[in-house]
Amino acid sequence: MARLKVGVPISGRGSNMAALAEACADPGFPADIVLVLSNEPGAAGLTRAQAFGIPTAVVDHRDFPDRAAFDAALTARLEAAGADFVCLAGFMRLLTAGFVERWRDRLLNIHPSLLPAFRGLDTHERALAAGVRLHGCTVHFVRPELDDGPIVMQAAVPVLPDDTAGSLAARVLAQEHRIYPAALRLVAEGAARVEGERVVYRRDQSGGGALVAPPLP
Ligand code: GRF
Repeated sequence: MARLKVGVPISGRGSNMAALAEACADPGFPADIVLVLSNEPGAAGLTRAQAFGIPTAVVDHRDFPDRAAFDAALTARLEAAGADFVCLAGFMRLLTAGFVERWRDRLLNIHPSLLPAFRGLDTHERALAAGVRLHGCTVHFVRPELDDGPIVMQAAVPVLPDDTAGSLAARVLAQEHRIYPAALRLVAEGAARVEGERVVYRRDQSGGGALVAPPLP
């Protein structure tokens, strides 16, 4: 099967991009990263991508009159690199409906909460403030609404009594690095696909067990 050619827009440190790049380094993985693209010229993730030998580009949103023009430039760079799929990885710009439709069902995002809870920013602070006992992360297909779209994979972690936003973020991030490559593999292999605005799986991916935190007595 031909490997999916993936473009990865980032804005910052790029640890999820690096997790994807490590997975793609395996010849048995069904995808390759063809471009890492940042809207921030100083993003640490660009240097990280170059260390993997991945081509990089900067498309600075400040150089464009509006979101539509910026998004059109993003698409142009992705197409020029031969990308047929996009994985957002800490890309901190709102995308236009035009961009989302252009890449419909070929556009994934990772979000640091168990969606649909805690869309938007500061998810770990908000999870602590809400007193939830389980928190986590979600890989989903992107739709025009913020942090919305069919869910491919989620991982849950416990919220511990002494957690700070930082300690909780670190626990969630370790799971992000596991599920993003795993979700991309499912989608690239055609084992997970969108049907009626939900993801359906070729095989049962549910596991069947329950995760309960704190553990039941
Ligand atoms: C991650 O927490 C991701 O879920 C969110 O932004 C953060 C990016 O971190 N969308 P990194 O740049 O991948 O290290």
